[in-house]
Amino acid sequence: MNKESKDNILRTINSSFQTRKLYPPKHPSVIGTIRRLQQLLAEFLRTKNKLVVAMVNDELIFDDVPVARGREDYPDLFSRMNGKEIEAIIFEKGVSERELIAFVDTLLADHTGVDNLKRELSKSGVTHITLRAVGRGKGVFLRVYNDAIEVVKDTMNDIRMGKLPRAEPVKKVVGEMAELVLSDSSVMIGLTMIKNYDTYLYNHSVNVSIIGLSLGSFIGLEGEELEVVGTAGLLHDIGKTGITEDIIKKPGSLSYEEWEQVKQHPVIGERIIKRINGIKELVSRLVYEHHVRYDRSGYPELKGDVHPLSMIVTIADSYDALTTLRVYQKPYQPSEALKILKGLSGKHFDPVMVEKFADMLGVYPVGTLVRLSTNEVGVVIKANPVDTERPVVKVVYDRDGKQLKEPFELDLASSPSAPQIVGSADPCSREMDIGEFFTKEVG
Ligand SMILES: [Fe+2]
Ligand SMILES: [Fe+2]
Repeated sequence: MNKESKDNILRTINSSFQTRKLYPPKHPSVIGTIRRLQQLLAEFLRTKNKLVVAMVNDELIFDDVPVARGREDYPDLFSRMNGKEIEAIIFEKGVSERELIAFVDTLLADHTGVDNLKRELSKSGVTHITLRAVGRGKGVFLRVYNDAIEVVKDTMNDIRMGKLPRAEPVKKVVGEMAELVLSDSSVMIGLTMIKNYDTYLYNHSVNVSIIGLSLGSFIGLEGEELEVVGTAGLLHDIGKTGITEDIIKKPGSLSYEEWEQVKQHPVIGERIIKRINGIKELVSRLVYEHHVRYDRSGYPELKGDVHPLSMIVTIADSYDALTTLRVYQKPYQPSEALKILKGLSGKHFDPVMVEKFADMLGVYPVGTLVRLSTNEVGVVIKANPVDTERPVVKVVYDRDGKQLKEPFELDLASSPSAPQIVGSADPCSREMDIGEFFTKEVG
């Protein structure tokens, strides 16, 4: 990409705003500028799937490269992005003149808030231009993930030391995770692939919370109910603080007595949570019930009904455990884990909820390593709700099996001739750490 065409695109975006401010939409100047912009974008998107125009600290970034020119050169583009708190405008392959004019009009109208702008764009049928809000850069996802790890660690340490933990940090971080799940659940689900063997319990707790929040929001929960699911996910194994570490970390099978102890953790957890001021009562019930199972074959014994929201935590708990490497178990690929859950549908898990979970994850869930028809190998980074067999992948190995220095994104739904997934590949045999991959993705 030469400097000139980069400048051309930015200048034409800028003049699209300028001309539309002066003339009605059908005016030849407006039509001419938009047409020119569409042509320049189409030219650029011949070899790429998308163009990201971003603004970081008042600096313009074009396709990941900072632009030397600035505010004076593209004043209208700057004022639109700053004024509307837009961090990035993403143009995707296939963007049309009609979409561009709707985009320009939407950004010139009085709407504020990126969420509102997005709604307006989608109402106008714009599907190839997306916006990202300031502060929603991917770095924030990892920051919140790490904050959540700290919160679980502090909470469990407080309990170990006989102190009653505080509810505020838990509530704050669950709120932040919920917000990020709503803004981009794929990025959050990607982070649940971080499985730290040494701090298993902390990572597992955060992962269960994220997976629970994603499934919860997918089935339409919001507000307090979503908060309850997220909090229960984060604290579901808190009762393990009451069990000796040797048993928790024991690699081999447990003796009868040891197993009886482990089975106490939901009961201990419920008791602790009930004592924490500010955590909703329902959270303790979900924690108590997270191993009961749909057919009641689990523990502890329960007289009444299992709460429907408990089934979300149970599924999230099992999914994360299955996809995690442990002494006695090789991790399952996300797609394999999903198959196991489906096999236990109606037994351990509520069939309706498993069905929803499968719909949410797609055939190849985020984090699955897949082989393409080109023999390239990639990681699924975003599900495709319309055609679950054609998600967005990041290609990491070329067709000869060589690891790419610069992995690239490939939307398998972008064209009928795009490569297809032929099957999943084993990350272990390639010594690939999917968690580390996602950490880099957002870092
Ligand atoms: Fe548990
Ligand atoms: Fe668990």
